[in-house]
Amino acid sequence: MNREYWDGFEDYELKEEHDIDDFVEGLANKVSKAFSGLEDRYHPAYLGLKNSSLLYGLIREKKPEVVIETGVCNGMSSAVILKALDDNGEGKLYSIDLPVKAGSIEGRTGAVLPPEKESGWVVPKGLRQRWKLKLGNTYYELPKLFEMIGYVDIFLHDSGHSYETMMFEFGIAWSHLKEDGLLLADNTDKNRAFLDFSKAQGRIPYRLNVLALVERSEPR
Ligand SMILES: C[S@@+](CC[C@H](N)C(=O)[O-])C[C@H]1O[C@@H](n2cnc3c(N)ncnc32)[C@H](O)[C@@H]1O
Repeated sequence: MNREYWDGFEDYELKEEHDIDDFVEGLANKVSKAFSGLEDRYHPAYLGLKNSSLLYGLIREKKPEVVIETGVCNGMSSAVILKALDDNGEGKLYSIDLPVKAGSIEGRTGAVLPPEKESGWVVPKGLRQRWKLKLGNTYYELPKLFEMIGYVDIFLHDSGHSYETMMFEFGIAWSHLKEDGLLLADNTDKNRAFLDFSKAQGRIPYRLNVLALVERSEPR
């Protein structure tokens, strides 16, 4: 973790603290089991306990109608968002993922699915009724999704973390964010995309632990 990177951020305060560690640990155990036979170079790359509780708390507080996330992989962030929407009793999650299975690409390391699993497999069956998952490349699927649904209340980027992909997603999400909407991203410290983007929009970059966040509304 690059500590200096976060010096440019302000802390985002939630009104209430939530603890969903038991829920997340239950899913993390399933993921660990599924990864137990795989080489160490592969990992499930999911949100940690703290980020999960904060993401859950944010969704409980904002009560969004529409959430979009890019990057599903085993489905931990999807499960956390869906649990929050379920507990809110309203809202839908649209997810986009171009999954990679362990062993399918020579030399590949990092975020993968175990060979016998599908994107989002760890999401409990009982939480899936508010969920639409689209498999494909964000460059193709995200514009199509916005054409279909028109707007988003909360957008979470966690797909490919290249500068170009992040800027592409931030740009299109920003132009479809509701007035009081939020743009969130994981793993932003890999490059300057998030900071460049929030600066170009004249917005304060906030952090929720290691999730970066920017508000659509004008700074007061
Ligand atoms: C870090 S993982 C997502 C982890 C997930 N958000 C979680 O917390 O459990 C990133 C996922 O995005 C996918 N991905 C990478 N580039 C993509 C692209 N251009 N379009 C769609 N998905 C992509 C990867 O294959 C992987 O499944």
